[in-house]
Amino acid sequence: MKKRKVKRTVSLVIVLFILLLVVNILTDSTSKKLKKLKYQDKTISVIKDLKIQDVVIKNNKYSKTLEEAILNNQFYQENIDFYYEFEYRNDDKFINHLNSLIKLGYNKMQITEIFDSMSSDDIEVLLKYNYISNISDYLKYSYFNINYLDRYIEYEKSTSYDKEKLITYVNIGLDKDFYSDYKIVDNPSSNLVLVNKYNLLPSDYVPSDLVTLSNSYSLVNVKMTSEAALNFEQLSSDASVVGLSILGMSGYRSYDYQKNLYERYKENDPDKVDTYSARPGASEHQTGLALDVETKTTIYTDFGKTNEYKWLKQNAHKYGFIIRYTHENTHITGYKQEEWHIRYVGVDVATYIYENNITFDEYYVRFIENSN
Ligand code: DAL
Ligand code: ZN
Repeated sequence: MKKRKVKRTVSLVIVLFILLLVVNILTDSTSKKLKKLKYQDKTISVIKDLKIQDVVIKNNKYSKTLEEAILNNQFYQENIDFYYEFEYRNDDKFINHLNSLIKLGYNKMQITEIFDSMSSDDIEVLLKYNYISNISDYLKYSYFNINYLDRYIEYEKSTSYDKEKLITYVNIGLDKDFYSDYKIVDNPSSNLVLVNKYNLLPSDYVPSDLVTLSNSYSLVNVKMTSEAALNFEQLSSDASVVGLSILGMSGYRSYDYQKNLYERYKENDPDKVDTYSARPGASEHQTGLALDVETKTTIYTDFGKTNEYKWLKQNAHKYGFIIRYTHENTHITGYKQEEWHIRYVGVDVATYIYENNITFDEYYVRFIENSN
């Protein structure tokens, strides 16, 4: 009797032992597999708690995004495919952004584009909006500014521009009235400073390197920055070789000079003055980079009728100048055509503007602003 009892107990212990062994082997194999995939112990334990070990093992690859989501308590089972799809980005907010974008309804392609082209701060702004179904149309343009999204949407209602123009024009400020919302530029001495009805120069700005054009290239006293002057003199000299006279008539103008000029025009012509004269601070002439030209025999207002103008249109860019105000760009610049007003921007930019037939305003918001 005693012997039988001992035997039974031993059998029970053995059975229990085997059972334990089997359970142990089973759990161990899950952990082992997860470990082999390179998940940390902490993660493995949560994976088991969440009972997602099967799907994780089935995927058979390590995902840092998944691991971070788990460790940061930001794991959502329904997003698991996305965790595998999106490589982890070194940004504290990455998982949070990913989850939020999925929740808003963005698909994998859109999320890829968003992460590829937007900064973390910009994504924060995007997340304040509902799902924007055509977000890809905007993201194609590197100069799309999420902070202006409301303005793009609003401007689109009253215009029929394609996205490229829409974004460019809003970035310039064209959805607002001229001079209604302007800033003071912080790069007044740059050859690429943008001065227009939205970007004004400080009233005390005077270029530091003004020189007077030699009198072979101007009939009156004309000042420009040394680099612009040198290039204009070359232009004028080359034009004279082919029998053309392109002479400087008005270059640098001080803030006060422009103020008097504008006020004089305004007294006589209050309705139209803004279509041909810049307000003080808004004239490129204050940069020392702009020049009004004439010929020996034709005053500047008739310059557009001359052969000199024809030559200038084809050649100004080779010397770093652009014809700034044309008939086609009045809606952007707010000025009537001024065939005589040229602006120095350097050969590369002038050539791009010439070849692509755009304004400096457009060039600036696409390629200079926010480019660093
Ligand atoms: N006439 C040009 C626009 C100026 O005043 O600067
Ligand atoms: Zn001018």
